[in-house]
Amino acid sequence: MTTGTGLPRLEGRDKVTGAARYAYEYPVDGVLYVWPVGASVASGTVTNVDGSAALADPAVVAVLDHTNAPRLHPAVIADQLVLQSATVAYRGQVVAGVVATTPEAAREGAEQVLVRYAEHPHKVMLDPDDPDLELPETTNAGFPGTSVKGDVDAALDAADVVVDRVYTTPPEHNNPMETVATIAQWDGDRLLVHDSNQGPAAVATAYGMLWDIPHEQVEVVTEHVGGGFGSKVWPSPASVLTTVAARVTGRPCKLMLSRQQMFTMVPGRTATRSRIRLGARRDGTLTAIDHDALQYTSVIHEFVEQTGSATRTMYAADNLRVRHRLARLNLPTPRVMRAPGKTPGMFALESAIDELAYALDLDPLALRMANEPATEPATGQPFDGRHLVECLTTGAERFGWADRDPTPGVRRHGRALFGTGLASSMYPVYQSGSTATARAEPDGTFGVSVAAVDIGTGARTALWQLAADACGVPTDRVTIHIGRASYGPAALAGGSSGTASWGGAVRKACTELCERIAEHGGAVPADGLEVTANTDADQPAADRARHSYGAHFCAVRVDADTGQVRVDRLLGVFAHGRPVNARTAHSQLLGAMVMGVSMALHEQTVVDPGLGLFVNHDLAQYHVATNADIRGLEAHSLEWADDDITLAGGKGIGELGIVGAGAAVANAVYHATGVRVRDLPITLEKIR
Ligand code: MOS
Repeated sequence: MTTGTGLPRLEGRDKVTGAARYAYEYPVDGVLYVWPVGASVASGTVTNVDGSAALADPAVVAVLDHTNAPRLHPAVIADQLVLQSATVAYRGQVVAGVVATTPEAAREGAEQVLVRYAEHPHKVMLDPDDPDLELPETTNAGFPGTSVKGDVDAALDAADVVVDRVYTTPPEHNNPMETVATIAQWDGDRLLVHDSNQGPAAVATAYGMLWDIPHEQVEVVTEHVGGGFGSKVWPSPASVLTTVAARVTGRPCKLMLSRQQMFTMVPGRTATRSRIRLGARRDGTLTAIDHDALQYTSVIHEFVEQTGSATRTMYAADNLRVRHRLARLNLPTPRVMRAPGKTPGMFALESAIDELAYALDLDPLALRMANEPATEPATGQPFDGRHLVECLTTGAERFGWADRDPTPGVRRHGRALFGTGLASSMYPVYQSGSTATARAEPDGTFGVSVAAVDIGTGARTALWQLAADACGVPTDRVTIHIGRASYGPAALAGGSSGTASWGGAVRKACTELCERIAEHGGAVPADGLEVTANTDADQPAADRARHSYGAHFCAVRVDADTGQVRVDRLLGVFAHGRPVNARTAHSQLLGAMVMGVSMALHEQTVVDPGLGLFVNHDLAQYHVATNADIRGLEAHSLEWADDDITLAGGKGIGELGIVGAGAAVANAVYHATGVRVRDLPITLEKIR
């Protein structure tokens, strides 16, 4: 058995030596370069696109706009319908594209394209008093927009203690090291795409829809990916533009977005505003939980961040209401980013629980444990594993929580104020049907293929281990092939579901192959044996509450003069069942915790209300956590058999470590300083 052990990554050496080939690096003869032109107004109509100055350069092959681009068909996201109309829905929306024989000429040409607009008024700020707010029926990932149990208002009226607070998070953008990159080549009605994404099969499906061709005619190759975190789940409008350019010019075309373009041509996360009301009895029993969540989408597509969905799963209360409201703004359609919904929502809920602990003069650990539900609070469904209490108690012991004095703002040494805080974590267990093919050769070796993608998670290595164990052979007899849409329909690297979903298909294909070999008396025929398996029919019914849980314990020091926050220690304990690869699982948790700190302390995309512009759009001004922010980082995994519920074994790991980390930091900052920051990120001026 190799599953559960920490084998090094298969592609580790290739990545650190530069041998790993990323999408933009595939050599293609006669390739042209694409540079998109983004709208310079936040709302309006394109009245004229003048490409004559750009076309004066003999290196410029074409200037594309809505008047000369081929027609596309309905898309997964309306933003993908590039150059289909003159309407501008947000600043930075692709309104033209320049195609040239060098990247420099394409970029220079894009500067010279003159676009004229009839400008319309725009709305770009999230406002709880916006008269046009909508009440969506469902949110992303299929959760109900509104759910009500009991009578929340009556319970709040009757409560001994009520906490009623508003928590906000800003728009945020993923910044994977590798920006979006695409090479598109047409051969008649067949499309070949080398592309950086989170799911080659899903990308092929998206291009099939856009171009109205069977998805089997689209091959997407995604061998290595330098990060995604949600930003590469669906083809970027600029990637679609690259397929358009290849279609129009009849030549292969390639594109790689600049860091700045990543802020408008790739979706980020909506701003959120959560009003949390908690009602409790004096003894700490929660009687009412109310989460009113506000988020935005664009004016061309509905995406509803599932901000309140985690609140439905956390604590027992007879009265529980979660509602999502939606604003339509002139901003790019936001999409999934690093534990969508759960991250902003749990910042709010877990901060409010801390505030309630202070209001009741109870330990926040004890308050959480006292409200541990027997079944999922909103649905009454039984849990398939939970172990939140064990995560809290194990974390408290490892961290040294027991002797904590809750008094805020009293531990000072020189300029430094010290404090500790905790928060719970959760993430749903998703998995979806996938296809894998396992092949046995007469020499005793095996080849396994699945349209998986390794965005840095270690999925390739984990799938290799699962394949070897299912075939009952050492790993050196197995070759794993991933990163091609033609390996069949498969899950995305999203929702922490990739390895569970692909791994289930790999296990099934390998197991069935071994049965076939046994039918042949244990021998593999000269031309080999091959089995393709699909797990669409093997998915569990939606009759149980399936989530992973965890707990973060955080120690901060805050400079009393400057307000600068440093995380001295962040300790996480997580219950996610058996990891396929202990080493990459641990890395996933650590990386996620860093992202949580990053969101707590730094990340925000600032909107200029007048220009409708994301003001900061590079890594000089959009800050992410670095080594200097965090001195101690520890992730511990707890294993119980009832957490081993996916077809690959355990539960998904990727996003669990992000959720709640921000609240643990904010709660620790309060304990250190006595200042409660309810508006992320926790920047200096909010503390001083
Ligand atoms: Mo993740 S935000 O589900 O790619």
